[in-house]
Amino acid sequence: MMTQRKSIHGEWSSHIAFILAAAGSAIGLGNIWKFSYMTGMNGGGAFVLVYLLCVVVIGMPVMMAEVMLGRRGRQNPINTMRTLAEDEGRGRHWQLVGWMGVVAGFLILSYYSVIAGWTMAYAVRSATGVFSGMDKEAVSAVFGSFVGNAEQTLIWHTIFMVMTGMVVSRGVRSGLEQAVRFMMPTLFLMLLMLVGYAMSTGHFAEGLQFLFRPDFEELSAEGVLMAMGQAFFSLSLGMGAIMIYGSYLSHTASIPRTVTSIAFFDTTVAILAGLAIFPIVFANGLEPAAGPGLVFETLPIAFGQMPGGAFFGTLFFVLLVFAAWTSSISLMEPAVAWLMENHGLSRVKAAVWVGIVIWIIGIGTVLSFSAWSGKTLFGKTFFDLVDFLTSNIMLPLGGFLMVVFAAWFMSEKACREELALSNGFAYRAWRLLTRYVAPVAVMLVFLNAVGVL
Ligand code: PHE
Repeated sequence: MMTQRKSIHGEWSSHIAFILAAAGSAIGLGNIWKFSYMTGMNGGGAFVLVYLLCVVVIGMPVMMAEVMLGRRGRQNPINTMRTLAEDEGRGRHWQLVGWMGVVAGFLILSYYSVIAGWTMAYAVRSATGVFSGMDKEAVSAVFGSFVGNAEQTLIWHTIFMVMTGMVVSRGVRSGLEQAVRFMMPTLFLMLLMLVGYAMSTGHFAEGLQFLFRPDFEELSAEGVLMAMGQAFFSLSLGMGAIMIYGSYLSHTASIPRTVTSIAFFDTTVAILAGLAIFPIVFANGLEPAAGPGLVFETLPIAFGQMPGGAFFGTLFFVLLVFAAWTSSISLMEPAVAWLMENHGLSRVKAAVWVGIVIWIIGIGTVLSFSAWSGKTLFGKTFFDLVDFLTSNIMLPLGGFLMVVFAAWFMSEKACREELALSNGFAYRAWRLLTRYVAPVAVMLVFLNAVGVL
């Protein structure tokens, strides 16, 4: 019997702590910054619809598989995959899934930290009243000159990496749990307030249409791939973050229920962000396809015009920094746990080393918006390439392999024990989703993107 393998790196104090931490990982820049600019670049409604489908049909089954593997393996993703494969009499090469996840975490955090740095700078700018009364030209000019200044963005990137390293080096209980407790609900309220503002712009209906009226002419095969990639990215799937958080989860928590609530919160936040941002885009005649600057070129206009905007703007960007912080912690944790568990490094040392390497890679993204903005490969900057490779390839591939492992290579007994789905129907539904629906859907999107379908 191996059901009760104990985590060698601590456990959450309660289920709620796990839900908060997993939601903290899932909800971040992906929901607000990335979801909105991706939706804008891919024409709106059709992208959103495919995204939502991917969350339900692929994301939720993969998340259940990932939490389940983590809780059963109880170690960092590399060791977890290796041990579980050994338990089931399979080859050690399954640990490559864990490796790919660690690498994806490095790459994602390298640019994530740069964008989180932008967010911090925007919090400061709001606090000093920079945006008050500004129109769209002025706000765009502020953004352009800010990101074009590599020195400034590098400093913010550095500060954010230090912040992330600090929390990670304090460990599961003291570090991760505390960071999430009160910020998520406040961020939620702020978003509701922004949606309220968006309603007052007179362009809310246009925003609604853009988000919810699908026009499939607008969505390319690459757009479909991006929608799937965004579902993985937003739910933190496919790289071991959710697996390692699952490894700290106690045996009594219900995985299906927890996963449903995390996916629900995550999606709600993304949709609210879209409802807040697009009416502002249309009210000001901005371009929905503006790219990664979209949030930074729209919301300051709103804050510049609403009463108390300097206060609310600061609060919003500060909360977004916190949301990014709790996500970045989970991006770093798999590598840190691996260094501790396999190489005997102390948590602090591991966090420092991982942080330094990621910081260096991040310089590429800093430069993508300044000195290297003209340097492209396949029409993509360094930032675009790293983002494409991780969100659209590594995460879906990692998630695919995890769900395939859980559904096809783990014994039925193990799955039943972990999921505790006593109800036969629920179990069969899970089986169908993880064995066939989710893996086939990922394959179809991949094949479609390379033009085979
Ligand atoms: N889900 C996070 C967000 O939406 C980003 C993330 C991706 C975190 C992958 C962990 C793993 O911002």
